[in-house]
Amino acid sequence: MKIAKFVDKLLVPSILKPKWRKNNLTYYEVRMQQFRQKLHRDLPATLVWGFEGAYPGPTIEAIRNQWIKVKWLNNLPAEHLLPVDTTIHGAGPDQPQVRTVIHLHGGVVPPESDGYPEAWFTNNYQEVGPFFTRKVYDYPNRQRPTTLWYHAHALGITRLNVYAGLAGAYIIRDAREEALDLPKGCYELPLLIQDRSFQPDGSLFYPSQPDPPVPGVDPSVIPDFFGETILVNGIVWPYLEVEPRKYRFRIINGSNARFYRLSLSSGQPFYQIGTDGGLLEKPVVTKEILLAPAERADLIIDFSPYWRQNILLTNDAVAPFPRGEAVDPDTVGQIMQFRVSLPLSSYDFSQIPARLSIIHRLSEAEASRERKLTLVRESDQYGRPFLLLDGKIWDDPISENPRLGSIEVWQLINLALSTHPIHLHLVNFQVLDRQSFDLEYFRQTGQILPTGPVRLPDLNERGWKDTVRANPGEVTRIISRFGPYTGLYVWHCHILEHEDHEMMRPYQVLRPVNRP
Ligand code: C2O
Ligand code: CU
Ligand code: CU
Repeated sequence: MKIAKFVDKLLVPSILKPKWRKNNLTYYEVRMQQFRQKLHRDLPATLVWGFEGAYPGPTIEAIRNQWIKVKWLNNLPAEHLLPVDTTIHGAGPDQPQVRTVIHLHGGVVPPESDGYPEAWFTNNYQEVGPFFTRKVYDYPNRQRPTTLWYHAHALGITRLNVYAGLAGAYIIRDAREEALDLPKGCYELPLLIQDRSFQPDGSLFYPSQPDPPVPGVDPSVIPDFFGETILVNGIVWPYLEVEPRKYRFRIINGSNARFYRLSLSSGQPFYQIGTDGGLLEKPVVTKEILLAPAERADLIIDFSPYWRQNILLTNDAVAPFPRGEAVDPDTVGQIMQFRVSLPLSSYDFSQIPARLSIIHRLSEAEASRERKLTLVRESDQYGRPFLLLDGKIWDDPISENPRLGSIEVWQLINLALSTHPIHLHLVNFQVLDRQSFDLEYFRQTGQILPTGPVRLPDLNERGWKDTVRANPGEVTRIISRFGPYTGLYVWHCHILEHEDHEMMRPYQVLRPVNRP
């Protein structure tokens, strides 16, 4: 099926309206619903899931240190839109088919509000999961201003719930960032990038079997999903008319498995100002930005020299990354089009400041522990390949249990063949370095034998991160201080097919030991 590109205007999700606001507290109620929405001029309206009648959901705007409460309501039907594999952890035939819980990705929130995968609930809370915690979630917003996103996270069906549409942006702002005079108002917008495939009737297509199919399991989870079209903010291959001036885009890779390596067809650079956890120290001028699922890039594009030109935002990341197939430059090699066609409405006073923020480096010397954690490919009981974190499945006892306030280094030792975007809930971390090692030697001895130099993270990874690309045959080291809450969280690969198929582990932040 051929779908025309750049025939629909980009839409900017609306800002969520609160139920009430009092002093420093804002209260929202958000319903998850099923409805039809036009995603492209030539496609019949698509049955999707979304929030308050919109896919992606409305953007939640937060101010640092101003508390938000959200009551998440499940008003979804009892039957799933997409093929549910009942052999996957948490999705067994005894479980309700449609279960949801919402996680604020990158949010520093108490454990009961984190959207633990087993804290799901069904329509109208008729049934709740084994760890059901609450209906109203607390988001303290005591963290650096940045672009977060909220998305579905129920055990065993996250890939399907997010694919159906349950995702939206969440932006934290503060006065200090405001004072930087970055582009704002209608010159600042979130771009949620996702890939999807469609049936000719406009319905979402998600495979019910891998290729070749797995004997005896139908539907079955697939190793990773790659869609045939690219959507931005819920529109297939949109265009955006812009003025010849600077714009700020908060880019979120909300895809299940697809990586994007972004560039602009004009050959001009991006000025990347922020990453997952907020502003970098200084802007990074780069012609390419690589984003794995769940990673974010906050960037400025200066359209001022390009009056009357059309500029494509392109993607050349192979799928799976980094050893998969090249993307078709005519389809998923394109993301959206900017038309520099609107006359300049006012002088552009916005800046790209040379200094953006201060980032205090966590020091390895202060780390109380260094954990070695492998990413390893094995086979499940049906002979399907799956990936495990440190060889363990979701139901294994908790093994990562840092003390509150302690600093730890985690070595992500990737023994598999592709890059896995590893995400930790609760904390932001810093990437220390990456180094390639001898896989065969590691398999035989369990020891790391380096085969290359220690590489510092990319310039645009030298800020706060919550998701990091762990490349095959490399040790990726991250450092984090665990807190400010104790309790149960998770860490996982953000390729959603992997996360649903055991590449996720609970972890617990323990109370500090009492010293006499
Ligand atoms: Cu974006 Cu645990 O998730
Ligand atoms: Cu998260
Ligand atoms: Cu993975």
